Amino acid sequence: MPGTNVEAAPSVLLANGLGVFCPESTLTRNLFIRTFGCQMNIYDSDRMADVLAPLGYTTVDCPEDADMIILNTCHIREKAAEKVYSELGRLRRMKLCRTANDPDRGGPILAVAGCVAQAEGTEMLARAPFLDIVFGPQTYHRLPEMIARAEQATINREWGAGILDVEFPAAAKFDHLPSVKLKAPSTDRTAFLTIQEGCDKFCAFCVVPYTRGVEYSRPGESILTECRQLVDGGVREVTLLGQNVNAYHGTAPTGGTWELAELIEQTANIDGLQRIRYTTSHPRDMDDRLLQTHGSCDKLMPYLHLPAQSGSDSILAAMNRGYTSADYLAIVARLRDIKPDIALSSDFIVGFPGETDEDFEATMDFVRSVNFAQAYSFKYSPRPGTPAALMESQVPDDLCADRLLRLRELLDFQQKTFNQDMVGRHLPILLDRVGRRPGQLVGRSPFMQAVHIDSSSNLLGKIVDVTIDAAHANSLAGHLYTRSVENAPTPLGQVS
Ligand code: 5AD
Ligand code: SF4
Repeated sequence: MPGTNVEAAPSVLLANGLGVFCPESTLTRNLFIRTFGCQMNIYDSDRMADVLAPLGYTTVDCPEDADMIILNTCHIREKAAEKVYSELGRLRRMKLCRTANDPDRGGPILAVAGCVAQAEGTEMLARAPFLDIVFGPQTYHRLPEMIARAEQATINREWGAGILDVEFPAAAKFDHLPSVKLKAPSTDRTAFLTIQEGCDKFCAFCVVPYTRGVEYSRPGESILTECRQLVDGGVREVTLLGQNVNAYHGTAPTGGTWELAELIEQTANIDGLQRIRYTTSHPRDMDDRLLQTHGSCDKLMPYLHLPAQSGSDSILAAMNRGYTSADYLAIVARLRDIKPDIALSSDFIVGFPGETDEDFEATMDFVRSVNFAQAYSFKYSPRPGTPAALMESQVPDDLCADRLLRLRELLDFQQKTFNQDMVGRHLPILLDRVGRRPGQLVGRSPFMQAVHIDSSSNLLGKIVDVTIDAAHANSLAGHLYTRSVENAPTPLGQVS
C-alpha cells in the first residue's frame, strides 16, 4: 500500500457517507502540512491532523519524510496564491524522485487545501496533474474518503488521482469533525478556536465571500465544549476566530441566539481559562454590548484587531465597507472610554482603484489620530472575480509602493512608541514557548507583544509578572519580577 510504513492490511474498516471504505489504521504514516495565510488556516490545518489521526497519520516537520503532504493555501492576495504554485513545482520533483527510487512505497499523496483550492480547483488539477487531492476549506472532514480513493489510484499506478471536493457546507464540516487533540499537552497553552466562518459583506477587493462562502456561526454549546476540551488539555488562552468574528450569532443552548459578547461572557465562565481574544472584527459589527464587554470581562485581553482599510471616506465607500472614518473614530473613542489602555491593531490597503493623493493623505491623518499599537498594511492586489478588479483607474505599482513605504514608516513609528512605553512596567506574561537561546522563554503580553525572558525554571504555561527592560521593533525583553520584601510575584494581571 502506498504511503504506509508496513505492508500488513489495515485492521479496521470504517464506513462513510460515499460508500467507500477507509482504513482506520494501527499503522503509522507521516503527515506534513504546510500552512499559508491566516489563523483560520492554522486552525483548519490542526483539525485536518485531528481528522487523519485515526488513520494512523502523525505530523512530521519535513516533507521528505511524509506519506501525505497537504498545502493549506491562502488566496487573499496574488503573492500568497503564487507561492503555492512554486511550492507545487518542488513537490512534483520530489514525487517523481520518490516514485522512481522506491516504486513499492511510491510517492507521497499530494493534496492542496484551502482558499486557492476552492477558487482554482479545476484549473489547478489541469495545471498540476500529479496532484492527488484538491479540497476546499469546508470539506476536510471528508479527507478519509478522499485518501482511500487516492490510495486506490496509486495502487493502479495513476500519476495523480485528481480528486476534487470543493463544496460549501460549513455547518456539515463542524458536525463531522472529531474532538480537538492537542499536539503537545504539556506545552500547548494558547489555541485558536473557530466560531464563525465566511462573510456576507462583499468588500469590493476581497475573495473571502467567494472562497469561504456565506456567514455561518457554530452553535454556542459546541464552541463551549471545544473550549472546555482545550482547557482540560492545558490551554490557558483561546483566540475565538472568524473571518467576521463579531458578526457571530450562534444558536444558544437554551434556544435563541448568542451574539459575540454573550459568547465571550459564557466562555469566560470556564474554570481554568485565563485569557480570551477574538479576531477578525468588522467595524460595522462592533455593537455597544461588545464594547462594554471589554470593560466588564477581566479575561478579555485589552487588544483589538479592527481593520480600517482606509481613512478616506470615498475609498471606504468604493470598497463597500459600510462605515466612514468618523464612524471608526467614534468606536475607538467609546472603546478607550471603556478600556483606556486597550491596544488597537488594524489592516490597511494602499492603492485601491481610484485612490488619489488626497485619499492617501486622509489615511495618513486617520492613522495619526488613532495611534495604533501595531497594524498590517498591504498593496492592493486585484483578485479575479471581485468587483474592484474590474474598476477603472487602477493605481500604478510604483505609486502604490511609495504609499506603502510611507504608511509603514508611520505605523512602525507608532508601534515602536507603543512598545517603548512598556519599558519599566510590570506585565503579566503567558509563557507559551521556548526561545532560540538556551534558557530563554517567550510569551505574550496582554497587548499581544512577544516578550522574551531568561529563566532557569520551567515556567512554560505559567502567567508570570515580568518587568520590561527593553523594547525592540517587534518584541519586548524583560526579567521575572519579584517583590523585594516577600520575594513573591505581584498579583497576576497587575499593570503598574
Ligand atoms: N489586496 C490587498 N489586500 C487585501 N486584503 C484583503 N484582500 C486584499 C486585496 N485584494 C487585506 C485586507 C484584509 C487583510 C486580511 O488582507 O486588509 O483585512
Ligand atoms: Fe473580506 Fe473582511 Fe470584507 Fe468580509 S468583511 S469581504 S472577509 S475584508
